[in-house]
Amino acid sequence: MGRKLLFDKAHIEGIRYYDVYRANGGYGSAEKALKSMTPDQVLDEVKKSGLRGRGGAGFPTGMKWSFIAKPEGVPRYLVCNADESEPGTFKDRYLMEFIPHLLIEGLLISSYTLGCNSCYIYIRGEYAWIPDILEQAIAEAKKNGWLGKNIQGTGFDLEIYVQRGAGAYICGEETALIESLEGKRGNPRIKPPFPAVKGLWDCPTVVNNVETLAAVVPILRIGGEEYSKYGIGKSTGTKLISACGNINKPGVYEIEMNISVEEFIYSDEYCGGIANGKRLKACIPGGSSVPILPANLLLKTAKGEQRMMTYESLSDGGFATGSMLGSGGFIVLDEDQCVVKNTLTFARFYHHESCGQCSPCREGTGWMKRVLQNIENGKGKMSDIDLLWDIQRKIEGNTICPLGDAAAWPVAAAIRHFRDEFEWHVLHPEEATKRNYGLAHY
Ligand code: NAI
Ligand code: SF4
Repeated sequence: MGRKLLFDKAHIEGIRYYDVYRANGGYGSAEKALKSMTPDQVLDEVKKSGLRGRGGAGFPTGMKWSFIAKPEGVPRYLVCNADESEPGTFKDRYLMEFIPHLLIEGLLISSYTLGCNSCYIYIRGEYAWIPDILEQAIAEAKKNGWLGKNIQGTGFDLEIYVQRGAGAYICGEETALIESLEGKRGNPRIKPPFPAVKGLWDCPTVVNNVETLAAVVPILRIGGEEYSKYGIGKSTGTKLISACGNINKPGVYEIEMNISVEEFIYSDEYCGGIANGKRLKACIPGGSSVPILPANLLLKTAKGEQRMMTYESLSDGGFATGSMLGSGGFIVLDEDQCVVKNTLTFARFYHHESCGQCSPCREGTGWMKRVLQNIENGKGKMSDIDLLWDIQRKIEGNTICPLGDAAAWPVAAAIRHFRDEFEWHVLHPEEATKRNYGLAHY
């Protein structure tokens, strides 16, 4: 069994409630931080741990925290990004739903470290039932002296507010999220300035993902150095992976970042193999924004090494032969699945969710969707494949926020690795409309 740091107590009945959480060591890390450590000492532990942002970008958390500006008399804010909307990603939902106090405790320690007295949880609107769970946990924490004024007699004050989103994927982008929190339309801002300097209401703000903030709790419990011994190299600690698609055991798994992709897919501890005895065709290992990998490149890198569930190994070879760990949304496709159809599904999503501020994204996502639709519907031309390639290249790197790149990369990877599948659709228009193109074609 792999070692767990976040879900180690998830099986305990009633862990969602304060009394059970506390009876099982909950708020021990917060107690340690607030009563016996300075904010700089906590920051030091987080830096030593090597923790990297779990929302998708993998930016070092300690470094992000040390960037926060500290102008005299200006409040600082911590914002918890719970706008989990990346297709294939549902790990934060599980954490908030079943162990909400782990997040509250992480927010408390993080706010103390950053010098924030107000903290916001911005939660995806579609997670309609979770704000009530969080509000209840916040009320319990407050009743027991872990929130509010003079927490546990330490003189530190903190209020946590839950803000519901309204269903826009783009509000998961940190600056769009800030705009939305301020009551405006969720349009991403140009960076720099980064939120650490000019964020919520123009004040220094740290925006971190749910899992990142929860991970601060075990870091304080076992120490940064010990935490850094979990995993491999710069992929320290554990990572929550939401696994879905054609596997026997879809679900949310906590993995130590030292297992291979093969073990994750085939072992009974995790995905339990491909469903219905089918063959593995491809996988999108880090949520819809990251490049798809065909089975041969998924299990082994281009150098022939075993592909590991780490930031480095999954991106080995760049986008030519690798992908990304991203948000940990692990989508598995079996031999019957059609890559063109899958790419079209994502293209539709990004077109729908584009905020429309920059023309390469606004126009390009719609254009890619229409060309893909034609190919999928048996109305495509061979030249459409090169056209698609050309459009995605013109989007990548030319937009305000990463949604543009996120829309371009899946198209590029699908053409790079499955060009024959696109060509087959063009050459067999009637068949293409009737059935999916899977490995059966080979
Ligand atoms: P990013 O790489 O631009 O930034 C990472 C973080 O580091 C940000 O908080 C940024 O403010 C901070 N940062 C970077 N350089 C800095 C500097 N010089 N000074 C101060 N702060 C600095 O990536 P971003 O836009 O935060 O996230 C993109 C990722 O989000 C994608 O990889 C995608 O996988 C993921 N994503 C996840 C979703 C989910 O549902 N979990 C939804 C959509 C995207
Ligand atoms: Fe909006 Fe797309 Fe530009 Fe991001 S890349 S700011 S979503 S138009």
